[in-house]
Amino acid sequence: LIDQQTDLPLHGKKVLVTAGGTREMIDPVRYISNRSSGKMGYAMATVARELGAEVTLISTPTALTQPAGVQYIEVLSAAELLTQVTAKFATTDMLVMAAAVSDYRPVKAVDQKIKKQPGQTGLTLELTETADILKQLAAQKTGQFVIGFAAETQHLLANAEKKLAEKKLDMLVANDVSQPGVGFNGDTNQVTLLTPNSTPVTTNLLSKTEIAHSVLTAAINRGA
Ligand code: CTP
Ligand code: CA
Repeated sequence: LIDQQTDLPLHGKKVLVTAGGTREMIDPVRYISNRSSGKMGYAMATVARELGAEVTLISTPTALTQPAGVQYIEVLSAAELLTQVTAKFATTDMLVMAAAVSDYRPVKAVDQKIKKQPGQTGLTLELTETADILKQLAAQKTGQFVIGFAAETQHLLANAEKKLAEKKLDMLVANDVSQPGVGFNGDTNQVTLLTPNSTPVTTNLLSKTEIAHSVLTAAINRGA
């Protein structure tokens, strides 16, 4: 039905959304991850679909129901996410990078469960940096509108301005996750939208669906 509504603002556009926190395996039963619930990414995918887009959602496992009418691809690690996003990027009109990507992963994932050693009271994991998926793809843009997300606990604007510029983004959605009701896990969020050469705009505390509407409307108004 949505596909026939040619008056919708994202009709004919392909939107690629990433969601959830990546899992970096330590051994077959343990991983490093983060507090991302996937809710913001799922809201972005749902609203992009409602606005007429053809949506692909690449997500880590979450407790959420897959949005209707959206192509779903499941990934675990940052490396898998990189592979899947890279495969789709060339044919995408808009990338919405809402996934919380692990910055580091264990140097090696051992293939047997790490056993507790008698007398060993400490354990050190050696980590290595993951690829910056967003930065890598934005560097090879051919007209895609690229939206990043940033969760900060301090110096929100300064950190966000830096990310917008360094990752060559068309928009950065920044949230201060130290504020109550903002960011991880909850159903609400308050964000600051940054775009190149314009004054940042901060939303009210809204539902994640309303935030998704604000972000996509701002992107459409900037030519996405
Ligand atoms: N991101 C990514 N690949 C990574 C790390 C982050 O694509 N390896 C993306 C996230 O999906 C998000 C944006 O970059 O859209 C900003 O993520 P954030 O963690 O806020 O920024 P970092 O550049 O990782 O910096 P830091 O964690 O030090 O604040
Ligand atoms: Ca990070």
